[in-house]
Amino acid sequence: MAPSAAARMPAAPGRADRLLAWFATQRRPLPWRADPDPYRIWVAEVLLQQTRVAAVVPRFTSFVRRFPSVGALARATESAVLKEWEGAGYYARARHLHAAAREIVAHRSGHLPRIAAELAELPGFGPYISAAVASLAFGEPVVALEANGIRVASRWTLEEGDVRRPAVRTRLQHALELELPRHRAGAFNEALMELGETVCLPRHPRCSSCPVAADCRARQELPDPGSVPAPRRPRARPHVLAAIVALARGDRWLVRRRPSKGLLGGLWEFPGGRVEPQEAFEAAAARELREETGVSARGLRPLGVVEHTYSHFSVTLHVFLGEWDGVGRAVGDAPLRWVTRDEFDRLARPAATVRAMALVDRPTGEASRGSGRRPGRRAPSNRGARARPGPRARRAHTTASPTRPRARR
Ligand code: ADE
Repeated sequence: MAPSAAARMPAAPGRADRLLAWFATQRRPLPWRADPDPYRIWVAEVLLQQTRVAAVVPRFTSFVRRFPSVGALARATESAVLKEWEGAGYYARARHLHAAAREIVAHRSGHLPRIAAELAELPGFGPYISAAVASLAFGEPVVALEANGIRVASRWTLEEGDVRRPAVRTRLQHALELELPRHRAGAFNEALMELGETVCLPRHPRCSSCPVAADCRARQELPDPGSVPAPRRPRARPHVLAAIVALARGDRWLVRRRPSKGLLGGLWEFPGGRVEPQEAFEAAAARELREETGVSARGLRPLGVVEHTYSHFSVTLHVFLGEWDGVGRAVGDAPLRWVTRDEFDRLARPAATVRAMALVDRPTGEASRGSGRRPGRRAPSNRGARARPGPRARRAHTTASPTRPRARR
């Protein structure tokens, strides 16, 4: 077995003190730091898991204004929470946040548990969030290890293993546990992350500004401290090719709620789905509309194409406009609604659906030509900046991942 990182570099006396002294003067004035209430810390940490601090600040501010307490979040509907989360991605996190708030109100008198082991029993509380909330909000002496801490600790200890391996993470965790000041665990964890975000950067660490450079093995022993940890190979993202239909009935549009669990769970979108190998886009759109809703369009017109990249996959959506043919009722295995344009805006939607709607909204061009009855025309919008007018329907090849069984977008 490889020697533990801790064995290879015993905790440097004073390293934690120097880090904490640096943090005391250099910490950024972030909104969840001004009022370190456990609920706010929890919301911030969930948001910080998925994006950069700069992007989290406005989202956090808006979220806690809308849901200022555990009680307010628990009282909200899941739809309201998803709408607030719209565009942030990782919607399961929003659903878990909401479910955990309800559990805390129902079974814990509205108070978050104070230790990581108990927090970990709540929905959405993995090892990182549990340790972060327990240490930052309640001072429990536990290490909260996320990507920044992993990078910093790898450099301090000159970790050679692959940091994606659980055994390597455990090693780094143990190395940090030896340094953790028992009465300042929250500040230590936060300082480590802050150092990773502002100084110990992934490729070009700013070692000359680092308060603990003298105690860092990567800095002391390598020509390029940024080479640790070894950069990971970019993940291959599956690509999904799909066709969707904006189906109009008077001034209403047919929309479908995705199943609550799974990808983009609980969000509302136009009916549609994957294009099968060798299937024409228009045929795929008509088939998906029929399969998902039981109704059909009088005809379908290509509106354009939306390209969107989510965290785990990318999608090309071929967007069609159609008018209900007046036959039958819309029924499917998921909730369906005929909504006005304004009602649609109030529902939580995947980013690609928002872009598809922008194609429908376009006042000129292919989408608007020849459709005197097209409902819900709006002022020009540039929200579809990444949407482009599409080719005429043609035969498609699909690059959809063979490992994904007909997943919806
Ligand atoms: N990244 C995750 N949590 C953080 C925090 N509390 N402060 C700074 N960066 C973070």
